[in-house]
Amino acid sequence: MNVATKQWVAVGQLNDIPRQGARCVKNGEMTIAVFRTSDDRIYALEDKCPHKNGPLSQGIVHDGCVTCPLHNWVISLETGTAQGADEGATLSFPTKLEEDGSVLIGL
Ligand code: FES
Repeated sequence: MNVATKQWVAVGQLNDIPRQGARCVKNGEMTIAVFRTSDDRIYALEDKCPHKNGPLSQGIVHDGCVTCPLHNWVISLETGTAQGADEGATLSFPTKLEEDGSVLIGL
């Protein structure tokens, strides 16, 4: 589920995020996991699995998805939706990668 973008917020550098890993940033009460794929694409999802709120930032990133560390639901990094037979979605946010390696997320 995408939310309307209000502003672009810099959340650090590409190299601050491990490949196939994530880094968390706070937005008020919400924690947002910023993911980096093996080919350096960046995605941002609320750090909350649609199943039982597992920390997606601690999951395994693969094939444009993250596997939740708690019960292995597979969540699309692009849309935040659960894949396969599972149903639900977490909030997703647009991202931008600048030439200088700055990572921005749209909030
Ligand atoms: S909390 Fe993520 S799969 Fe159960």
